[in-house]
Amino acid sequence: MRTVKLGLIGAGGIAQSHCGTLANIDGAEIIAAADLVPGNLERAKERWGIKNTFTDYNEMLKMDEIEAVYVCTPTGVHSAPTVAALNAGKHVFCEKPMEATLDAAAAMWRASVENDKILMIGLKLRYSPQVIKAKEVVDAGTLGDIYYVETVADRRRGNPGGSFIRKATAGLGASADIGVYALDTALYLMGHPKPVAVSGITSNYLSLHNNWNPALRETEVEDFGVGWVVFDNGARMVFKTCWCMNMDSLGGTIFLGKKAGLRVGVGEVRGPQNGVRVYGDKNGEIHDETYTEFKSVNVFHEEDSAFIDAVREGKPSPIDPYGVLLTNVIIQGVIDSSEADGREVEVTVPTL
Ligand SMILES: NC(=O)c1ccc[n+]([C@@H]2O[C@H](COP(=O)([O-])OP(=O)(O)OC[C@H]3O[C@@H](n4cnc5c(N)ncnc54)[C@H](O)[C@@H]3O)[C@@H](O)[C@H]2O)c1
Repeated sequence: MRTVKLGLIGAGGIAQSHCGTLANIDGAEIIAAADLVPGNLERAKERWGIKNTFTDYNEMLKMDEIEAVYVCTPTGVHSAPTVAALNAGKHVFCEKPMEATLDAAAAMWRASVENDKILMIGLKLRYSPQVIKAKEVVDAGTLGDIYYVETVADRRRGNPGGSFIRKATAGLGASADIGVYALDTALYLMGHPKPVAVSGITSNYLSLHNNWNPALRETEVEDFGVGWVVFDNGARMVFKTCWCMNMDSLGGTIFLGKKAGLRVGVGEVRGPQNGVRVYGDKNGEIHDETYTEFKSVNVFHEEDSAFIDAVREGKPSPIDPYGVLLTNVIIQGVIDSSEADGREVEVTVPTL
């Protein structure tokens, strides 16, 4: 089996998870790393035996042996290295979310199409048994047409701080950090209808005035966001996300179909219940089916294996970046609407 040689851009927190996972995948080897912080490169060398290190990723991208690149920089620094890597002829795995702005995300998608290279965004919940089961249920036609969705990623006290709360590095807050999992799961199960209009609000009030961690009072991005999304197929969606709130749950993720309903609870897309539950009827009586027994899966191993296999075998991206781009369309709509005092804004899906 051919070994896929990899470069890493951004050797911080999440990069450690991918390095650990890739070390256990046959036929994958990280041969170079780039980071602005020399200490992080030293750690990459010592911990993972990465021989070639660079403080400028453009220099690393000149290495012909590198076939694919992992982009693990902060969210507002995803597009520049991803586009540079794709233009250098490398396949790219980029951490979630796609980027902080729709324009920056669209540039990534366009570069992958123009260069005919894989771009996979690390939306690990796609590999969770819960989302896989929910997709099976939807694809079997159990729900019928989905006309209404509420999708939620919430934490009661979960503002991560650090680079996540700065406009210059993260660009966005809870919507892009955890909200993207809720949006991606919903859009994936809905079959990626096109959003056409969004209204929404955002706030960072609770972080600015919190009494549990003074460092979080410097939060520059939203810690709470809600959107109402209209799709071209007539479906409607409520999107809710927050890093902190004085509440136990914003209600969880539900799908209403013309034949049955569905509740999904997994990871950040948590709700009052974990697992998958289908709400319907049989012979005129209420009949629900609950799936709670799921085997434990290392989602990083699943997504990294899928990426390496796609690169080696010349397959398309395991997670189509066009579908992920729609999450950015919606988040941008929420931000734009919030700036317009919550009035509805028309949204446009970028084209090539
Ligand atoms: N999938 C997950 O479970 C998960 C978990 C955490 C973070 N993430 C995502 O991963 C990304 C990174 O998060 P993190 O927690 O690892 O952040 P981090 O701050 O720990 O690491 C980012 C690294 O990128 C480096 N960097 C910044 N700008 C750079 C540049 N121009 N060139 C080279 N290196 C540069 C930093 O020096 C740092 O080492 C974020 O987008 C985040 O949303 C995903």
